[in-house]
Amino acid sequence: MQIQQDAQAVEWWKEAVVYQIYPKSFYDSNNDGTGDIRGIIEKLPYLHELGISMIWLSPFYQSPMADNGYDISDYFAVNADLGEMRDIDELITRAKNYGIHIMIDLVVNHTSDEHPWFREAVNNPQSPYRNYYIFKAGKNGGAPNNWRSLFGGSAWQKLPDEDNYYLHVFHQKQPDLNWENPALREDIYAMVNWWLAKGIAGFRIDAITFIKKDRDFSSCPADGSDGLVSIKVKSRNRPGIETFLHELKAKTFDRFRCVTVGEAPGVPFDQYANYIGAEGYFNMIFDFHAADIDVENGSEWFRRHNWTVDEFRRTLFASQQAFVRAGWGTTFIENHDQPRALSKLIKDVRYQNATGAKALAAMYFFMFGTPFIYQGQELGMANFCRQDISEFDDVSSIDNYHRSLAEGFTAPQAMHFVNQRSRDNARTPFHWADTLNAGFNTGATPWLAFSSADYTVNAASQLNDANSVFSFYKKMIRLRNKCWPETLIYGEFIPLDYPDENIIAYEKKAVPTVLFRSPT
Ligand code: GLC
Repeated sequence: MQIQQDAQAVEWWKEAVVYQIYPKSFYDSNNDGTGDIRGIIEKLPYLHELGISMIWLSPFYQSPMADNGYDISDYFAVNADLGEMRDIDELITRAKNYGIHIMIDLVVNHTSDEHPWFREAVNNPQSPYRNYYIFKAGKNGGAPNNWRSLFGGSAWQKLPDEDNYYLHVFHQKQPDLNWENPALREDIYAMVNWWLAKGIAGFRIDAITFIKKDRDFSSCPADGSDGLVSIKVKSRNRPGIETFLHELKAKTFDRFRCVTVGEAPGVPFDQYANYIGAEGYFNMIFDFHAADIDVENGSEWFRRHNWTVDEFRRTLFASQQAFVRAGWGTTFIENHDQPRALSKLIKDVRYQNATGAKALAAMYFFMFGTPFIYQGQELGMANFCRQDISEFDDVSSIDNYHRSLAEGFTAPQAMHFVNQRSRDNARTPFHWADTLNAGFNTGATPWLAFSSADYTVNAASQLNDANSVFSFYKKMIRLRNKCWPETLIYGEFIPLDYPDENIIAYEKKAVPTVLFRSPT
């Protein structure tokens, strides 16, 4: 099957190869157990050697770390154990010298409950900040409705001294911002522009499809034994979101011509043009259909899905073709919310090694769009199996464990689901070498335990090995960006049908039309 693809305008971010860094787990330069911004600065030569041209930095803002920085208590400060603002400034400058842009995470669906806006909203019901969040009166002695938070339990948390509740799509320490309030929106835009003026290249925009809630706040039929219903039904990509997203773009991104990548689960393919078309809200979005192939509808982890390669191929290509029709794509196999691809996508354990890692790399890297590499993926890092739920840090892992038990699964079954899917799989410290703590630091206990892990997959052993996974990634980047950009970046994407259902194949073909430079 082939779909017509127009010649693409040349844009620097289409040519970018993005490397995602989870700051807590990359490199601990001051040996306090937590990775830091100076650690990233020290490792810039490594990233330059790999050949990437943009870093996506997961949150480094001040945060109580209930969700590892996706709960921000000050948008204008760096979390103390990660560094200081001048480290960020230095990172931007030093990275630029290597030709590396810095894209940061923008978390504006919610803040931390320790953000001064929220504190004020709770402490003083008359404060204007009350309307910065979503408060509702209780109903029949309980929560305002039966919406379930994505991290488990009711999406409503009761205030200590009132019969009022606040809404949290994610953890209870992540109260949702009220985007209906123009004053809140203006404060957000000012913050976004402040960061853009600093010289960052743009944003990966977190959980952005959740900012609009259905205002009837009505209960829905339960979808679990807890009597609750996933909040996605009433707060993900809901009608009216377009007004907020157009305004966000006009008042911030457009003014700087920055790059934007929206985390956009729940958007149907026929709406992709709204998100990434010529007048779309963002330059790119992430599509999760293929990434979540192992879980029914990308929902709770106990709903395992026994997928086939053929199904995976069809899912992957469907989202690719949706990108082709709408604008520009992204292509990825890992991030900080996903298990390691090697463990998730290679079912035959004999290939959960360098061979499997290279096969996955070649499969996804040259598809249609800007490729993303998650730290450690370029080495072929695998999941880290844990024995007990107490070994997990991730709030979502802990919730999914208890949800599984509540749904009637045994403890070993619940552990199995969590080990398969846990976000902690990708969050273990980076393997720099086969030494103490994998060279992540010089001996302090890492924030996330991984001491029984096998460190034989590590950067030091791969850097100068021409056959390593690292060298394979390096070659792919060269091929795409230096040797055949007309084909491998801008070329037409043509899925190929093979009679063998275990083969995933596609062709890239240079588009014969002359490419044009977009006006600057
Ligand atoms: C996004 C992030 C995830 C975080 C959540 C809440 O999905 O990728 O890590 O927990 O939003 O901010």
